[in-house]
Amino acid sequence: MEKLRVCFLGTGSMGSAVLEGLIASGHPLEQISATTKSVESAARFRSRGISAMAIDEAADANALLAGDADLIVLGVKPYQIKDVLSEIKDEIAPNAVVISMAAGIKLATMAEVMPGIKNLIRTMPNTPALVGMGVTGVAPAKTASAEAVEATIELFDSVGAALEITEDQIDALSAISGSGPAWVFYIMEQWEKIALKHGFSAEQAAVMVRGTLAGSIDLLAQSDNEMPELRANVTSPGGTTERIIDTLDKADLNGIFEAALEAALIRSREIGAS
Ligand SMILES: NC(=O)c1ccc[n+]([C@@H]2O[C@H](COP(=O)([O-])OP(=O)(O)OC[C@H]3O[C@@H](n4cnc5c(N)ncnc54)[C@H](OP(=O)(O)O)[C@@H]3O)[C@@H](O)[C@H]2O)c1
Repeated sequence: MEKLRVCFLGTGSMGSAVLEGLIASGHPLEQISATTKSVESAARFRSRGISAMAIDEAADANALLAGDADLIVLGVKPYQIKDVLSEIKDEIAPNAVVISMAAGIKLATMAEVMPGIKNLIRTMPNTPALVGMGVTGVAPAKTASAEAVEATIELFDSVGAALEITEDQIDALSAISGSGPAWVFYIMEQWEKIALKHGFSAEQAAVMVRGTLAGSIDLLAQSDNEMPELRANVTSPGGTTERIIDTLDKADLNGIFEAALEAALIRSREIGAS
């Protein structure tokens, strides 16, 4: 991996999160390049020793920097993907790995624009990648080599955990982990609201809920037990926790989660068709 030249086309929130992870993993700076739209963004990368160019100063910046890269990471908005692929398709090496992070853009769409490129990979990271704890689904084209997939997994492992999936799983992964931070924050918001309603201050509610969540995740990570056992440890028969779980079961929390996932899948299909 260390020897691979990695070029980020579009280096905003997600592109720069992955770029920072790659640097933190020890990848040599001289093996990394980046394009941005604005001159200011490119200058920020250049000041750190990263080869960077802005579209606003050189319209062919994407083609120029992608041309000698082994891994090309597309961090532009989904509506820009086809244009950026068209810009680079005649300049990149035939065995270059082209990795898209764009929501909703299919591998078939990428292949249509660059039929000569076999190593096409679609990914879906999530925002905890910004703090090095993302979860990324990696869906390779059938034509992609094992080495291309391995390098992509290694790249996204540098900002958390990456898992290989098939493209037909990417909508469900997007709903579960891509949108995952929204599920978690929404649930935490409801949880803190009940603490506030029961007389605790905002600071106290935050300590209770955020501390409990962080502590429970650490406990799970460090324990030999799985979630049902750890839950049973705080659920005495006939006790108060049992009433909480019964209430959540009666409200069919699992059915609500399933309905939420289905709604996201329906929306993905609508977006894909439009
Ligand atoms: N953010 C997320 O939570 C998230 C999660 C999963 C997937 N994604 C995917 O990640 C991609 C990027 O999203 P983002 O939130 O990181 O967007 P963003 O912060 O708006 O970043 C976009 C980047 O593209 C640059 N840019 C604009 N036009 C360009 C061009 N023609 N050529 C090269 N660079 C160009 C921008 O330059 P300037 O810096 O100069 O403006 C900026 O660096 C999207 O496809 C999105 O679907 C994002």
